[in-house]
Amino acid sequence: MSLPGNANRDNFGSKFGILAAAAGSAVGLGNVWKFPYVTGQNGGGAFLLIYLACVLLLGVSVMLSEFSIGRRGQRNVFGSFKSLAPNTPWYFAGIMGVVAAFVILSFYSAVAGWTLEYIVHSVDGSFHSGEPLSNAFNNFITHPVRPILWQLVFMALTALIVVGGVKNGIEKYNKILMPLLVIFLLILCVRAITLPNSVEGLKFLFTPDFSKITAKTVLFAMGQAFFSLSLGMGALITYSSYFKKTENLGITAINVSIADTVIAVLSGVVIFPAVFAFHIEPSAGPSLVFITLPEIFRQMPLGSIFGFIFFALLAVAALTSTVSLLEVVVAYFSEEFKITRKKSIIITIIFASILGVFASLSFGPLSSVLIFKKSIFDLLDFVASNVLLPLGGLLIVIFVGWYMTKRDVRDEVSNGGTLNVPFFPYFRFIVRFIAPVAIAAIFIYSIFYGSLG
Ligand code: PFF
Repeated sequence: MSLPGNANRDNFGSKFGILAAAAGSAVGLGNVWKFPYVTGQNGGGAFLLIYLACVLLLGVSVMLSEFSIGRRGQRNVFGSFKSLAPNTPWYFAGIMGVVAAFVILSFYSAVAGWTLEYIVHSVDGSFHSGEPLSNAFNNFITHPVRPILWQLVFMALTALIVVGGVKNGIEKYNKILMPLLVIFLLILCVRAITLPNSVEGLKFLFTPDFSKITAKTVLFAMGQAFFSLSLGMGALITYSSYFKKTENLGITAINVSIADTVIAVLSGVVIFPAVFAFHIEPSAGPSLVFITLPEIFRQMPLGSIFGFIFFALLAVAALTSTVSLLEVVVAYFSEEFKITRKKSIIITIIFASILGVFASLSFGPLSSVLIFKKSIFDLLDFVASNVLLPLGGLLIVIFVGWYMTKRDVRDEVSNGGTLNVPFFPYFRFIVRFIAPVAIAAIFIYSIFYGSLG
């Protein structure tokens, strides 16, 4: 028998709300900002193929594992582990998830804030001012105040959504923002593929060049898939604790993974044709979106409008992700310490902003502060993406594959035996054998060889 739901908890109201919120968490800067530039740096189509394999082989199963823990546990990420494994140290995996969410929220909101500055720049004519766009970008991110103000605005927007609760906040806004994001993306896709020479960009994205593939690329693709699907840290455990007991977890995991991957690929379809149409190097790295693209918008007819749409898309993608990060921490504080959501939000936002300000300043006034040879921003990113996420992912798959009984996992995935789950043996095999080895490999490699990026 599946465990009863907790009638006193706020829950998602609809299937579409669940999909929008979970896809909203997954689709973020990782898709629109990071995926295109890492693809550009790692061989285009070959990287794409490996990335797809990682999502299909590992991502979907790890996501389904997280859904099983959250919905069965019926609490925040820490509480869910505690209720499924009482009197064991498994709650430690939950604490790690809360810490990871807090750390990611702090530095992710710095880059998210940049998107707001760029929304303004696309319409105020700054891209056309004649100043080299790389200077403009560097002047902005090294400025001691402006990026911080935008970061705080972004935190405030995130808090305003989360304060409404699950149904009237997270679900309500994701149901508006995610369709908006898809519309923005489709407009930009049409614009990009009708540019002269766009075929070159598409060829770059879709033709595999296997000579660029090394073991490192494979591990990197796996790490990117994890980050992009919001795995390994409890965001999806927290969200799934609000899922209905009748929700089909397997189908939801597949739909969210498909949505996340399609949006990453379409972001590539927006960016690479534009890059090739304007004869720009596709492997520009992190600056691809903030320097290369504005250059393109500067040269393109109606560039201000397309620039506005692009950066609004980036901001919306980031916002629905920071909402899920904040919810992880807020659910933890409010449920475990019995304080109101409002108080938990205020506390979390204050502390995440303080850490976030240091992350932001590490591009400018604090750029000389290096810890383990990394700037504060890079260190936070490294600790979260290369240590906490893989370790969290490893604990999650070991928990579902080896700690929970086969009966309990099957019971949760099949909604108490009411759903047909023909994929169950494959899922269980992946979670028990393939995923732990693959995730351990990413983890060990990234610890010993530094950032995979
Ligand atoms: N998946 C988000 C992205 O691709 O930008 C980042 C993220 C959000 C990671 C939420 C982890 C998370 F819990």
